[in-house]
Amino acid sequence: MSESVSLLGKDLIGLEPLSRDQIVTILDTAEHFKDVSERKVKKVPVLRGKTIVNLFFEASTRTRISFEFAQKRLSADTVNIATSASSVVKGETLVDTARNLEAMRIDMVVMRHASSGAAGFLAERIPSNVVNAGDGRHEHPTQGLLDMLTIRDHLGRLEGLNVCIVGDVLHSRVARSNIFGLLKLGAHVAVSGPKTLLPVRMEELGVQVFPRVEEALEWADVINVLRLQLERMKAGYVPSLREYNRFYGITRARLDAAPRDILVLHPGPMNRGVEIDSDVADGPNQVILKQVTNGVAVRMAVLYLLAGGTPEIAHTVREVEET
Ligand code: CP
Repeated sequence: MSESVSLLGKDLIGLEPLSRDQIVTILDTAEHFKDVSERKVKKVPVLRGKTIVNLFFEASTRTRISFEFAQKRLSADTVNIATSASSVVKGETLVDTARNLEAMRIDMVVMRHASSGAAGFLAERIPSNVVNAGDGRHEHPTQGLLDMLTIRDHLGRLEGLNVCIVGDVLHSRVARSNIFGLLKLGAHVAVSGPKTLLPVRMEELGVQVFPRVEEALEWADVINVLRLQLERMKAGYVPSLREYNRFYGITRARLDAAPRDILVLHPGPMNRGVEIDSDVADGPNQVILKQVTNGVAVRMAVLYLLAGGTPEIAHTVREVEET
């Protein structure tokens, strides 16, 4: 493994600063790592000797566990820190926490934090690689990448597709990473939801706005359905969850009325019966658990590339392991 500057730079904080080529490299490298998770022995030695800390200041099921699986499948040594059981609760700052971890000679930190900008703030202050696992409303880059990989798997391309993000876009770091990534890869991007849950000036980013979800479904090849982030809402953004479902919920009837088959994604966790009905969440159009499976491969690719790996070596690892 090369110790020189990685193809992605030192850290992965968001998709906004990445080039189209860097995003394609991550997706293509993830393709090479997919089959590691299908083998009897789910392990390759490419991060042997590396120590990675998962520092989660917010709850997570998919992201935290799939980062840990990705690290273990690349043979890294991993430590999970539940901040509720750490000295953070005694008032220790983020930077002091990270510096103490660095004193134990770590190589990378994967961090989720409630504050937008927290991952970038940390990345500027420690020499270890920092991977943003979601910071406030800012970005959730590995979620954006796994969403793009899943769309590409199922529709064969991203360029020229109409992708609509439906729901609570205002509070969503997933929406921002999807928008930045999809636009760079040539997709047409739209958002749909109640006015109170859509950021202003979306058009300036090159994003179309559909105030009515039915219009969005007439236009879309793909929808990415977001949950209402009730934990980030201080005021009443929607009159009631029942009303939200009535006007914006993705229901079987709404999908059946659309002019074409629409691929349905949801980053999870889902609020069934609110933003998505169960017959859609478990139905034939959705690829929700495939997103989760792809999350492991995408996170393997990101960790591997940040550690100085190259796409060519990923290919070699695959061939060596198969023979
Ligand atoms: N999609 C996502 O970030 O899920 P978790 O909050 O469970 O990690």
